[in-house]
Amino acid sequence: MTTTEEAVAFPQSRSCPYHPPAAYDPLRHDRPLSRVTLWDGREVWFVTGHHTARALLADQRLSTDSTHPDFPIPTERTRALRSRRRAALLGWDDPEHNVQRRMLIPSFSLKRTDAMRPRIQATVDRLLDTMEAAGPTAELVSAFALPVPSIVICDLLGVPYEDHDFFEEQSRRLLRGPTGEDIEDALALLEGYLGDLIDAKRAEPGEGVLDDLVARQAREGGPDREELVQLATILLVAGHETTANMISLGTYTLLRHPERMAQLRADPSLLPTAVEELLRFLSIADGMLRVAREDLEIDGTVIRAGEGVVFSTSLINRDGAVYADPDALDWERTARHHVAFGFGIHQCLGQNLARAELEIALGTLLRRLPGLRLAAPAEEIPFKPGDTIQGMLELPVAW
Ligand code: HEM
Repeated sequence: MTTTEEAVAFPQSRSCPYHPPAAYDPLRHDRPLSRVTLWDGREVWFVTGHHTARALLADQRLSTDSTHPDFPIPTERTRALRSRRRAALLGWDDPEHNVQRRMLIPSFSLKRTDAMRPRIQATVDRLLDTMEAAGPTAELVSAFALPVPSIVICDLLGVPYEDHDFFEEQSRRLLRGPTGEDIEDALALLEGYLGDLIDAKRAEPGEGVLDDLVARQAREGGPDREELVQLATILLVAGHETTANMISLGTYTLLRHPERMAQLRADPSLLPTAVEELLRFLSIADGMLRVAREDLEIDGTVIRAGEGVVFSTSLINRDGAVYADPDALDWERTARHHVAFGFGIHQCLGQNLARAELEIALGTLLRRLPGLRLAAPAEEIPFKPGDTIQGMLELPVAW
């Protein structure tokens, strides 16, 4: 339990985009469990120890059901969504969750995502061709980091990429909209759009994952239209926003660690290890949420039914008991077992796809642009606030 006098507030913004918020520093000494205060004054458990995090994330007495009256609401603006499940998959416990997840596992298997590598490579090459032709400067988020995963997830799901301005804007409002109304409106627009798309696919089937789900519904019954729309929404939003942030923040981090970047250029076989280490180091989904459905005991502490639990991904992934010199970016270490993709039944469904995209996007960027550098003072480049997925808002580069 915490020895800290006053509970620290959660969430807080990072002061450096690739390090955990300095305000959480006192909690590093309280591992594995502390208390933090949410915006509404409520205190919740804050998990910071690696071993404890994995045990709790695998414990089904902790629920992701955001309609539970005691589910922790991290910001005032997200309170609006409390009347409904946060999302398909992520908002459900087993057994319902398992039924949804099983339908999708084949589409995101290592084999399926490996088969996508040539198409991902072609997309990356094409975007870099355009960027180079317009260069020698670019805003990397809009020219590269966002379009790579957006094109790839459209391709996989069977969503027309020409609609990307619309769904990227609604996803941004969903995750970072300033008010509850903004978030609800964005969700309604996204769901309306995907509902129409699903109806169109029913009339004229294509080849994406959404088409497979529609065909399955016609063949075997369930999932119903509403469930299909909710699945499509999480796949589309989670499928591009997160990876885009990893590409932008990953590039910024490499440019701030020139020695590590030079090692990667000299030996591209390090890429898979480097991607894993970047996932650990950056921990962009910093704050997974749960509520206890019943009392449970962990490391001698009792978490009571109805108590909220927040997982500090960034502190868990920098637990010195598991990672030596945890604040260093190091290609030598084995960063596997990090929780950047979560752990347990909700562990990221798209992780194979994300790894493939990151290896190809970062590897090709470094190879093709040997003179890549920041085109503005590093401290002045804006990054995302602490209450959303972490990443760069803009990334001006030159080569
Ligand atoms: C580097 C990029 C990504 C990161 C860091 C990331 C992170 C995460 C994390 C931390 C969770 C678990 C959340 C929790 O337990 O509360 C999660 C779940 C999920 N992610 Fe990802 N993700 C990434 C890319 C993707 C992609 C490309 C997709 C593709 C569709 C995706 C789809 C999902 C889905 C559907 C879930 C919910 C799974 C379930 O509840 O069973 N993610 N992700």
